[in-house]
Amino acid sequence: RNGFFTYDPGFVSTAACDSAITYIDGGKGVLLHRGFPIDVLAEKSDYLESCYLLLHGELPTAEEYEAFKRTITNHTMVHESMHQFFEGFHHNAHPMAKMCGAVGSLSAFYHDDLDITNEKHRITAAYRLIAKMPTLAAMCYKHHVGQPVLYPDNSLGYAENFLRMMFGTPCEDYKVNPILAKAMDRIFLLHADHEQNASTSTVRLAGSSGANPYACIAAGIATLWGPAHGGANEAVLQMLEEIGTEDNIDAYIEKAKDKNDPFRLMGFGHRVYKNFDPRARVMKKTCDEVFAELGVENDPLLRIAKRLEKIALEDPYFVEKKLYPNVDFYSGIIMKAIGIPTDMFTVIFAVGRTVGWISHWHEMISQGTRIGRPRQLYTGYAERDYVEVKDR
Ligand code: SDX
Repeated sequence: RNGFFTYDPGFVSTAACDSAITYIDGGKGVLLHRGFPIDVLAEKSDYLESCYLLLHGELPTAEEYEAFKRTITNHTMVHESMHQFFEGFHHNAHPMAKMCGAVGSLSAFYHDDLDITNEKHRITAAYRLIAKMPTLAAMCYKHHVGQPVLYPDNSLGYAENFLRMMFGTPCEDYKVNPILAKAMDRIFLLHADHEQNASTSTVRLAGSSGANPYACIAAGIATLWGPAHGGANEAVLQMLEEIGTEDNIDAYIEKAKDKNDPFRLMGFGHRVYKNFDPRARVMKKTCDEVFAELGVENDPLLRIAKRLEKIALEDPYFVEKKLYPNVDFYSGIIMKAIGIPTDMFTVIFAVGRTVGWISHWHEMISQGTRIGRPRQLYTGYAERDYVEVKDR
């Protein structure tokens, strides 16, 4: 349609919405952000430039990009009272619980002067969220480990600033390894957007009611938490640790094939991709770069992951069902190598995906979309008479 793509009528009737942000061809393993292939963006762009592309629809000129980076950098701090917010949680609370609450609470600071029908207000909210997510994520972690929070350092790049806020302390000058900063930036980029996945659809549905963007993003974070969606990267590490040695792989492959066994190979399969998830290919390359830099190519979990991937790709069950590694299969292994604890993996996914969520929210509001109202196939009773409790 619109002279760009043509769809068969059957598909059009099932589509949830019109969107010009991301295109996926699951059969061919194609992922385009505003027309640019994900592997090209991963190689030639970086996360913030891709944020500009997703939000504004075009790659920025040099001047636009510098102005965008400056604006994002100037919004990285959060209101000082957010520190008390985290104190309200038990230090052991799951970081996703804290992130969900913290992002939703941003409404309390910015809700009053926000008119979502005003495009400038929508863009300001988008920039604020992109800027503050790494700061809030690092605060989740620092509260978890009982260390003091570090304020953002505006002289650093986006991913570098995040890693410093995560692992730096006031006691010493913390230098971020540039290879790890590049890997972190690429992880954010590879998670930036993915069309109408469960969490993005949640953000759009929440936004269609006119809810403020901070509340909508909090709804997206809640949806992402599930192990079938963004929680899969954490579940991949738990699975690899449960498998334990390469000798156990065959038994787990059989479990994944057994219809009576709820076990699934985490990091495999996808509702849309029936070919390799193009993000998984880039993630695997990044994994090799990080492990080479850290000199841990023989990490046991990495070896199990590579052997598991090889066996599964050759196994007729997975070949017939078109089950390939997805974006989560290698991302968790990289984050573990960087030193990020498993319960922070989905928080990192949420940081990267925020630009996708908010770009879809902005697109939907600018389209003047009416409130979403999915219908159902009713399978309950037809109307019937009330029976008094004494007669039941
Ligand atoms: C993400 O939507 C998105 O775009 C999501 C995402 C994004 O960027 O937002 O890409 C991020 O969520 C990636 C997916 C992360 N989740 C996991 O890795 C968890 C493990 N994967 C499975 O839970 C599953 O593959 C799903 C949830 C991802 C997809 O589930 P579907 O839609 O049921 O998969 P399917 O219809 O293609 O399944 C076909 C068959 C089924 O068997 P049958 O009913 O035909 O007998 O394959 C089976 C499934 O049971 N199957 C698996 C499997 N995934 C599907 N069997 C074993 N192991 C698996 N991982």
